Amino acid sequence: MGHVPSFTRLHQVAAPEAGGGVRLGGMSTVISRKWEHAVVTGGAGFVGSHLCAALLDAGAAVTCVDDLSTGRPENIAPLLERPGFTLVRANVAQELPVDRPTDLVLHFASPASPADYLRLPLHTLETGSLGTRNALKLAQDAEARFVLASTSEVYGDPQQNPQDERYWGHVNPVGPRSVYDEAKRFGEALTTAHAETRGTDTCIVRLFNTYGPRMRGHDGRAVPTFVRQALAGEPLTVTGDGLQTRSLCYVDDTVAGVLAAAAHGMRGPVNIGNPGEITMLGLARLVIALAGSRSEVRYIERPVDDPAVRCPDITLARDKLGWEPHVTAEEGLRRTIDWFRAETRR
Ligand SMILES: NC(=O)c1ccc[n+]([C@@H]2O[C@H](COP(=O)([O-])OP(=O)(O)OC[C@H]3O[C@@H](n4cnc5c(N)ncnc54)[C@H](O)[C@@H]3O)[C@@H](O)[C@H]2O)c1
Repeated sequence: MGHVPSFTRLHQVAAPEAGGGVRLGGMSTVISRKWEHAVVTGGAGFVGSHLCAALLDAGAAVTCVDDLSTGRPENIAPLLERPGFTLVRANVAQELPVDRPTDLVLHFASPASPADYLRLPLHTLETGSLGTRNALKLAQDAEARFVLASTSEVYGDPQQNPQDERYWGHVNPVGPRSVYDEAKRFGEALTTAHAETRGTDTCIVRLFNTYGPRMRGHDGRAVPTFVRQALAGEPLTVTGDGLQTRSLCYVDDTVAGVLAAAAHGMRGPVNIGNPGEITMLGLARLVIALAGSRSEVRYIERPVDDPAVRCPDITLARDKLGWEPHVTAEEGLRRTIDWFRAETRR
């Protein structure tokens, strides 16, 4: 199936202020495109399940390929009843059994939380290497557009802040986080080589920390951990002195950015994240306030090679895709807290 770039400009989004708030005026347009059939590896995971839903909403048929190693059936349970949605349970490092015409492959399979990839180090490396090879082969054979979910972790513990796409990173190749960071860096190299040598239509998106409904309360990432603890009235466990920063992008914004990059036809890499930087201590206090919790903060040991700063430069995404995040931290956290509250009542 060919991939003639028939771009349409559909969504109007408002530009964020520094700090992630919504600025009135200064509207930009986000590029989108109609897909017939998309394959989403890792589609039963947190980000993948939102991507599957957005693609179905846009009229595409979707095949989700997932081994449920870190994803959850509940994430896609509502999608199973929707026409055009298919679940294939498979480990993409071993096989990618899809044999129908496909015009988009979104390769999102990979453990993503430190707790998961530290528990599954070899699986993480195999998914990032063999799984990426298999997903690229599928895209090449189908003449489909291919999008690799890379990560801000390719920048490691960065020596420059914010990070733009020209920065090569500062990664410990044998540290505990290397199984994830290096798997993603290898995936980027493999994707680039495929485009160069086989002409595969590829794109690399570097996602920064994304949060929202369907994260697992015990997946170890800051937002779900803090929200779970705040709702249970337990102390919020902040690592180190809590002054390390992250930039948090609400999942709807991330999904819009990924689909805009897919539609554009750019090769990337392109940063997709929210440039509003927040300290972990600031995040803990914000979650306590928004949840109306009486929890306190407890300081615990900081993990090895934990990045001190993390903030995307999204000039490229703004200029080329017309994309930028528009959900404020307060609004996104409120929606996430509401979702966790409803989940605990189930
Ligand atoms: N959430 C973030 O903040 C973030 C940031 C940067 C990059 N990313 C990338 O986005 C993708 C999704 O992340 P997430 O947060 O949704 O994680 P997640 O763990 O919720 O989802 C990953 C999904 O991939 C599946 N999977 C893992 N290995 C597989 C394999 N070998 N075969 C088939 N399925 C497999 C899991 O079962 C799960 O459903 C990952 O590639 C991750 O590296 C996420």
